[in-house]
Amino acid sequence: MRRIHSWLLAATFFAGMGLEAQSQTFVRMPFLQKGSYNKATVCWRISAAAALTVKFGTDSTNLANTSAASASNVDACMTLDSTKLQPTTKYFYEVYNGATKLTGSVRQTFVTAPLVGAKKKSTFWILGDPGSSGTPQTNVKNAFLRINQGAPLDGVIMNGDVAYESGTDAEFTTNLFTKYPDVFATNFIWSAIGNHEAVASTTGASYLAAFNFPTAGEIGGVASGSELYYSFNYGNIHFIMLDSQVSSRTKTGAQYLWLQQDLQATQQDWIVAIWHHPPYSFSGHNSDTEGQMMDMRTNFVPLLEQYGVDIVYTGHSHDYERSYLIDSAYGNSTDNNSKKARVVLDNKSGNPTTTGPYRKASMKGPHQGAVYLVSGSSAKLDAGTLHPMMYVQYSVYGSSVLTIEDTVATSKFIDSSGTVRDQFQIVKTRGTVTSAGRPALKQDAQKFSQMGRRFLFPANNTAPFRIYSLSGDLISQETPKGMWEPSSKRLPTGAYYFRYGAKFGKISIP
Ligand SMILES: [Fe+2]
Repeated sequence: MRRIHSWLLAATFFAGMGLEAQSQTFVRMPFLQKGSYNKATVCWRISAAAALTVKFGTDSTNLANTSAASASNVDACMTLDSTKLQPTTKYFYEVYNGATKLTGSVRQTFVTAPLVGAKKKSTFWILGDPGSSGTPQTNVKNAFLRINQGAPLDGVIMNGDVAYESGTDAEFTTNLFTKYPDVFATNFIWSAIGNHEAVASTTGASYLAAFNFPTAGEIGGVASGSELYYSFNYGNIHFIMLDSQVSSRTKTGAQYLWLQQDLQATQQDWIVAIWHHPPYSFSGHNSDTEGQMMDMRTNFVPLLEQYGVDIVYTGHSHDYERSYLIDSAYGNSTDNNSKKARVVLDNKSGNPTTTGPYRKASMKGPHQGAVYLVSGSSAKLDAGTLHPMMYVQYSVYGSSVLTIEDTVATSKFIDSSGTVRDQFQIVKTRGTVTSAGRPALKQDAQKFSQMGRRFLFPANNTAPFRIYSLSGDLISQETPKGMWEPSSKRLPTGAYYFRYGAKFGKISIP
């Protein structure tokens, strides 16, 4: 009797252990968060609470390092030991329960970021309004992966509406994590919140629970104290993720004040900002009438441009809209249209294969122009028309790809059949222009020329450029280098004379 009792106890004990280990499967497959040159966080959701570890290493046949054990929860994240991570290095990882690899865990990889400031070529996949679980979402993903041909990505960035319709916990699982398990397990993912993540909970509770974004400036940038808005560095790029839905959009709000500090602090070559509600759109949503869109245009766009933002990705409208190189377009569409000659700094395509890239006169500095995109058709589609600030508008499913290498940024829109429907490039001038392989810039640097109200100066210019009123009063004197144009704030509408050495001419400010 006693013997039988012991046997039963032992059988129950071992069966229980076995059951527990076997029954844990991934509800949300491992996904990568908060990647930097020496940081990586692996997150997951499993079917029953357990403390798990992450084994990782550079040798695919021997995962030499093991993380500490996670809390015993169904949702957990483990930040890997930064002393074991080197920049720009490929690591393999798997998730374990004790000595047993968790059911469903396969050997995955990630590549750490380059050192901050490094000019490595980096590519980011930009998904807009992707969380709907429909066939178009799958088609857009497959088209991109087919075009990308397995080339390494440096990150996946989502601009909101990642869990339709209401941002419930179940919708995050079904419409987002279940749709991109392969992509999320092998790339660091970043997101801005959309309005649909703030329906079931106006504070975005399931969004905040699902992700693990930097709040303490741990991936670069100034600490925001919020996962709803934050920044991070990647190579020579500073990414800024803003919240156009839940947080205050006023100029006295915490988000604005944080952004001001963050922009003042960054020394990065490129500033790319991402948020949900577009400042310019004539599609599913109209930027002349919708509050969040107007707030972002009138409050946040001027601040970003003051500190030299280069590219802005948004969604919300389910189409593709891409602006010219523009600056200071803070009014509604009618107002901006009336000032088009002043706010559109380059009215050509920016396409490097046709009319040539947009040019910025220096790596940093205010009001040199930015390109604004609505890229919100990664799962849903709206009809639209061309907003006066936009070079192009397409109502087609697709996603965007941003590649930045040193002084050159290229953004492409790839539709759901894998066709590149639009591309633009921004080329910046670094110091004295000597970039080998960019003869156009080198040539530009050697001569002075005027194109309307824009001027090109030698990159090593030391001669003053003076602007006079028509009655001959000196209005301004500067010593510009590279591409330059008089600030619209300094010169009210009207005609002026300029003098530069022996050159003398007229400028008209519309
Ligand atoms: Fe939206």
